[in-house]
Amino acid sequence: MSSTYDAYRSALSEESYPLAYLDRSALEANIRTTRRRASGRPVRVASKSIRCRAVLREVLDRDGFRGVMCYTGHEAAHLAADGFDDLLVAYPVVDADELAAVCSAIEAGTRIVLLVDSDAHVERISEVAAERGVSVPICLDLDVSTDHLGVYFGVRRSGIRSASAALELARTIADAPAVTLSGLMGYEGQLAGLPDDDPSNSFVTNAVVRRLKRRSEPIVHERRQETVAALEREGFALDFVNGGGTGCLESTRRDTSVTELTAGSAFFAPGLFDHYRGFTIAPAAGYAIEVVRRPEPGVYTCRGGGYVASGPPGVDKIPTPHLPRGVSLFDAEGAGEVQTPVSYDGPHRLELGDPVFCRHAKAGELCTHFEHLHVIDDGELVDRHPTYRGDGAWFL
Ligand SMILES: Cc1ncc(COP(=O)(O)O)c(C=O)c1O
Repeated sequence: MSSTYDAYRSALSEESYPLAYLDRSALEANIRTTRRRASGRPVRVASKSIRCRAVLREVLDRDGFRGVMCYTGHEAAHLAADGFDDLLVAYPVVDADELAAVCSAIEAGTRIVLLVDSDAHVERISEVAAERGVSVPICLDLDVSTDHLGVYFGVRRSGIRSASAALELARTIADAPAVTLSGLMGYEGQLAGLPDDDPSNSFVTNAVVRRLKRRSEPIVHERRQETVAALEREGFALDFVNGGGTGCLESTRRDTSVTELTAGSAFFAPGLFDHYRGFTIAPAAGYAIEVVRRPEPGVYTCRGGGYVASGPPGVDKIPTPHLPRGVSLFDAEGAGEVQTPVSYDGPHRLELGDPVFCRHAKAGELCTHFEHLHVIDDGELVDRHPTYRGDGAWFL
């Protein structure tokens, strides 16, 4: 039986490296796993963790997935022009031209919801929307980070931290022209995006993270529920309440106030998502670099490969060498700008020009480096999907 390495190498034998690849059957498995984890709750697809229209479509065509969580207004307009609908831009847009692009897409018939956490956000949207003569649906961003004896646990995004603050902002939206309150988002980054079984952390650190997560969860749910109840009591009927991310679907779906979950990284399963206790997803995407030198037995130096992830710097942000099985980076060099040496003493004979496969630590960042995702299915190259970068538009 041939190995996954052989299958990938043979599928890509006519291609030039470096390239990004997507394993179709692993993607399929991850779509099924995500649907099962969501347990009947609809899942909005986080495009920042995909950045490829064809893959977004592939996921959205399945039962259980509905709508896109976009990361910029220009991106939402780009997707709208290609026929995508039900787009939530989950980060504030403050630039007037970008707001105008969103308004044009709304005018042309696409549902695009914009996120706010302050009166200033509302004012900016309202001004451009009124000028354009459109009504923009708005989502309120509730901060659901928690504090544990002075330890801040969560993301620093929205200043709306209570039901009363949310109510005040909802009243501002109600009073402003050309905007309407449509939804609430409460993203628990501390549960969704923080690995709790990370081998680069000590046993004690992982145990502390798991304990903090257990303590944080009920506080997050209570704050979201109280806020939804307070808004409804005052007559604000919400179309949706969004929460969660790949790392905490099982937890978020237990919050009865949440009407839809979000997942993005769940589909490509990048390196950081190898390190969660509660679920397993299949490595589905990565990149291939080619061997260009063999300085000594067991050492293969490849061209390129230094795609390091954003976030707090650390070894968890460097790529994960993936195939052939057993390949590893050198601590002293890591993955380099132009050269990446790897150590390998397994059964495959690696010749000059042969690929070594690595996985990015984060999902969507992979596609910012490549114009295409080479789709491999059963040892065959079956498609080359343009990424956002391949569309000539990678936004961030
Ligand atoms: C608002 C929001 N929701 C959900 C997610 C989850 O995305 P993913 O499933 O790719 O981790 C993120 C990730 O940062 C986010 O910012």
